[in-house]
Amino acid sequence: MTTTLHFPDGFLWGSATASYQIEGAHDIDGRTPSIWDTFTRVPGAILNGDNGDVACDHYHRMPADIALCTQLNLNAYRFSVAWPRVRPDAGPANQKGLDFYARLADELLDVGITPWLTLYHWDLPQVLEDAGGWTNRDTAYRFVDYALTVFDALADRVDHWTTLNEPWCSAFLGYTSGQHAPGRQEGVAGLVAAHHLMLGHGLVVDELRRRGATPDNGKQVGITLNLTVPTPINPGDPDDLDAARRLDAFSNRVFCDPLFAGRYPDDIAADVSGLTFQGRPWTDAIADGDLEVIAQPIDALGVNFYHGDGASASARTDLLGDEVLTPPRAASPAQPDGRRITFPRRGLPVTGMGWEVQPAALTELLLRLRDEYAVPPIYITENGAAYPDVVTPDGAVHDEQRRSFIDLHVRALHDAIARGVDVRGYFVWTLLDNFEWAWGYSQRFGIVHVDYATQQRTPKDSALWFAGVAAANALPE
Ligand code: NOJ
Repeated sequence: MTTTLHFPDGFLWGSATASYQIEGAHDIDGRTPSIWDTFTRVPGAILNGDNGDVACDHYHRMPADIALCTQLNLNAYRFSVAWPRVRPDAGPANQKGLDFYARLADELLDVGITPWLTLYHWDLPQVLEDAGGWTNRDTAYRFVDYALTVFDALADRVDHWTTLNEPWCSAFLGYTSGQHAPGRQEGVAGLVAAHHLMLGHGLVVDELRRRGATPDNGKQVGITLNLTVPTPINPGDPDDLDAARRLDAFSNRVFCDPLFAGRYPDDIAADVSGLTFQGRPWTDAIADGDLEVIAQPIDALGVNFYHGDGASASARTDLLGDEVLTPPRAASPAQPDGRRITFPRRGLPVTGMGWEVQPAALTELLLRLRDEYAVPPIYITENGAAYPDVVTPDGAVHDEQRRSFIDLHVRALHDAIARGVDVRGYFVWTLLDNFEWAWGYSQRFGIVHVDYATQQRTPKDSALWFAGVAAANALPE
């Protein structure tokens, strides 16, 4: 095969998954309910009333799923640990839950695949939500207890530790718009939650360092953020410019500034001035020393990238195109200042989610991170697309759109590397079709098709192509 775009030696080619989206086995071996078990029971919260009770039944099929990774030549696998399986409250750890992840890590190591562990991919124990969830500062400390339990059990097997996955979603979809569990629509509660999530991140980094999790010991600690590239729809319109600024503030800078500069952006304070959560401004959540905890150095930045955003303040999306599809509970905007931003389409191709395909925005984002922040090595911890796949009579899934989507983004990533950004891995989202949160099973993101009635797995054409890229550590010409 003639190849032109080579990736650096040691580059990670992986797939990513998350516990609630694939595991099922929701009441097995001591697992207790999470906020997603509760939220999926709320009528109208999830498309078609779907839930993760069974999902891909990965809990029982894990070895076969890891064998798929081997067949696809992947050298890394990103998974998350379910907090409610392991340590739902301040009580003792649940050994059976820990054992599952030990078996998973062993399975990966046996076949030479690097385990990449995320501690929190949105499945907060319900018992902690009952005490206030992420709007309660105490949850950050419970997160530390849980993280240490996992670290003590798995540090001998796992070198790559990620604290949080996409805290934007946990905070603003969970506590401001209510599209995600726990479904609260409480305005600046999202900012309070964001702060406590980031505090939890920092506290965990601190404690893991004390336990010896340092690069000198071969360990890496980081976080995964979902970041966007906001562009005003009409750059000549001050309101659209402001919409793009607010999107940047509440999606990107609200996390990157505290993480890499130890401060919150000034414009956020102005945007939400006068708004309160439980009668107090959100900044009351910030205690002395918190920002130092949050800003301590990390070893890896995970970036999840799906699309850029054309932002507008105009509700008249009819003039410009359709608004991005919204999941069932989209009554309240995800912006904690309560003002809606619209995302009129810009004539770009869209995926099954209605998300615009804009690979050049990935390059732009990576260059921006390098130029504006003192970032550690970057890993693309998620990128991929949902399309309405079908298994054809030949027993295959000819998902050319997904193959092309991944190809374009890997090229955009290569472009950033060629321009000097230190990116060391790419994880496709996702290994298996799975439970896509508010969208239930309606959106298929997998490179492997799952027949939910039989649990049969069928690698799609995109998977077979991706296997070639991973094996070559290069993109074909
Ligand atoms: C990011 C999330 O981490 C993942 O759980 C989700 O399925 C994908 N985006 C696709 O929406």
